[in-house]
Amino acid sequence: MLLRNRLTEKFGIDYPIVLAPMDYVSDWRLANAVADAGGLGILGGGYGDSIWLKEQFAHDPNERLGVGFITWSMAQQPGLLDMVIAHRPSNVFLSFSDPAPHAPAVLDAGIPLICQVHNIEQARRAIHVGASVICAQGGEGGGHGMGVRSTFTLVPEIADLLRTTAPEVMLLAAGGIGDGRGLAASLALGADGAVVGTRFATAAEAALRDSAQQRALEASGDHTIRQQAFDVVRRKAWPSQYTGRVLRNAFIDRWHGNESDLSMDLDEQRRAFEEAVEGEDYGLANVIVGEVIGLIDSVNTAASIIAEMVGTASSILGRISPNAVLIDATTPKARS
Ligand SMILES: Cc1cc2nc3c(=O)[nH]c(=O)nc-3n(C[C@H](O)[C@H](O)[C@H](O)COP(=O)(O)O)c2cc1C
Repeated sequence: MLLRNRLTEKFGIDYPIVLAPMDYVSDWRLANAVADAGGLGILGGGYGDSIWLKEQFAHDPNERLGVGFITWSMAQQPGLLDMVIAHRPSNVFLSFSDPAPHAPAVLDAGIPLICQVHNIEQARRAIHVGASVICAQGGEGGGHGMGVRSTFTLVPEIADLLRTTAPEVMLLAAGGIGDGRGLAASLALGADGAVVGTRFATAAEAALRDSAQQRALEASGDHTIRQQAFDVVRRKAWPSQYTGRVLRNAFIDRWHGNESDLSMDLDEQRRAFEEAVEGEDYGLANVIVGEVIGLIDSVNTAASIIAEMVGTASSILGRISPNAVLIDATTPKARS
């Protein structure tokens, strides 16, 4: 089959489509729905909630799901990674901060390590620590990242790096991939597969409120913004180099760029924010999506999302004759 490759072989999946480990949104329902439809399901371990994770594991009897972490937060909880390793996930996916302190435990257990990176230096680091798979995330993606590189250039640059220095390491593209065109583009750029966040956050099985999904579906990519104000009000201590892409709203209009004023009035603003979350008032509450939201206009099952992606990508790639390759991808630029 056209879309079978070394990634699908390694993880025993049908299609090179990977569910992004979205904090709480990627719960056992969504992860299993993606896995049942032939993709790789990864639980959103996020900031690290051991009770939540144990509940998820109860719904993963065949140990086919992976677990993703916001690494700096997981690192603050001794024993959490060991608890996850003991469950034997199909992979551990580390994002946001240096994977080096945690890689040995994952690798010693024989579990494939996926590292999400945002630039070339981090890709080199991921190779160095022994990642089996690198996920190259561009700034158009939903949620946190560094936001300085686009998927369209980051992926082929890392593909070149891997081909010349670590050809055994596989590559995933993340950021802006929401349909078969994006999947075909990811493969054409040199990735072995695609990590899909926003598109699956709007899936029927996603652990996201209906009202938040409906709000998101009304937006175009223009309505998203990278920001830190929501982390300030949620008291999430993100390292300063990370920003998060969300839907723009009245809260962002007021506080983006004025985070120090927000910090001065934090108790009051936090109360209002929590009320808004509870009351599903998305004028104030955050909805985490990437630019690709502009391509999505309905809630669909994970299976139908994957079917569309696979069908369209196969059709696009099938139309590209081998003689139509535009660049000689065998001679990447020499780099120091
Ligand atoms: C709702 C949401 C929550 C996310 N939470 C996490 C997370 O907890 N850990 C993580 O590594 N990445 C997280 N991400 C980022 C994804 O891993 C991925 O890089 C991104 O979604 C890809 O871009 P896309 O949204 O355009 O598909 C999140 C993304 C979204 C949309």
